[in-house]
Amino acid sequence: MNITFCCTDTKAEPWLAGLRAALPQATVTEWQPGAPPADHAVVWAPPQRFLDEQQGLKAMFNIGAGVDALLKLRLPPSLKVVRLDDAGMSVQMAEYVCHAAIRHFREFGGYEADVAQGRWSYRKPRARTDFPVGVMGLGVLGQRVAGALRQFDFPVRGWSRSAKAVDGVACYAGPATFHDFLSSCRVLVNLLPLTPETQDILNRDTLSRLRPGAYLINVARGAHLVDDDLLALLDGGHLAGATLDVFRTEPLPAGHAFWKHPKITVTPHTSARTLRDESIAQIAGKILALERGEPIAGLVDPARGY
Ligand code: NAP
Ligand code: GLV
Repeated sequence: MNITFCCTDTKAEPWLAGLRAALPQATVTEWQPGAPPADHAVVWAPPQRFLDEQQGLKAMFNIGAGVDALLKLRLPPSLKVVRLDDAGMSVQMAEYVCHAAIRHFREFGGYEADVAQGRWSYRKPRARTDFPVGVMGLGVLGQRVAGALRQFDFPVRGWSRSAKAVDGVACYAGPATFHDFLSSCRVLVNLLPLTPETQDILNRDTLSRLRPGAYLINVARGAHLVDDDLLALLDGGHLAGATLDVFRTEPLPAGHAFWKHPKITVTPHTSARTLRDESIAQIAGKILALERGEPIAGLVDPARGY
């Protein structure tokens, strides 16, 4: 069995060593133009030439959860595309989102500013029941995040394409419920995949429907958010602030208004990192399952976009 590795901006050696250790029966090599055909591929943002040359692949494993960049390429119609299915990401996402939501709810930013001025001051405790948190996307990451927020007794709502039942979470499904979902939220967390349906979904109209003083946490993709609409709603006072981990252009360009905006916290696309060992174990397990003719989880539906 031949496995080819083609991951842009990723140091290949540790991945090749890990895959060889997990699959000693396989030949694992880094892809070069003109390389012989492989059975399976491990990829991140491969060039179109890679796909044009590797037409005989049985499956292509993305070393991330989001496949929006991959689906922009011309893929052989029968190729199985497999996304990372948690692999250690959901706990990171839960801690990131809870940290951002709690930092806002408890006004820790304000306390830090006070302390920096040498001021010992109290703020009036806010009612948790008055801080409903809405999670857009109730998939692998969204459900874990919703569950973690529940542990802090926030009222939690979730919105997805198909109907869901998640313990302790008020679930909304489909476009017809979107406005009701939004108008109930005081904190909005975006964990949708980027698809033609969800691009620009965080815009002036949708964000205006959040409760006054709402807070946005975008941890999915930068192209979900219309940057200027967010800035207008922050400056106009409808939104209290935002924590942004993802951006239309990454790295976030120098001089972009988000860098220094007093109501925006920026992190460099780090909310849920790909963990190499967990990912290799998951991918190796799935390659072996496919070779035995067994079904696997995490298959992407290119027509749906995720
Ligand atoms: P997932 O398991 O595929 O879940 C996606 C969820 O979004 C599902 O609940 C799906 O609904 C819902 N959804 C999709 N299209 C929708 C639409 N048009 N309207 C309403 N709901 C819709 O994905 P995941 O593993 O949770 O990951 C989510 C995203 O997080 C990834 O695509 C990626 O962009 C992002 N991400 C970011 C980082 C980071 O470090 N910032 C790390 C990992 C992932 P159904 O359940 O009905 O299908
Ligand atoms: C990271 O953004 C991922 O999609 O895994």
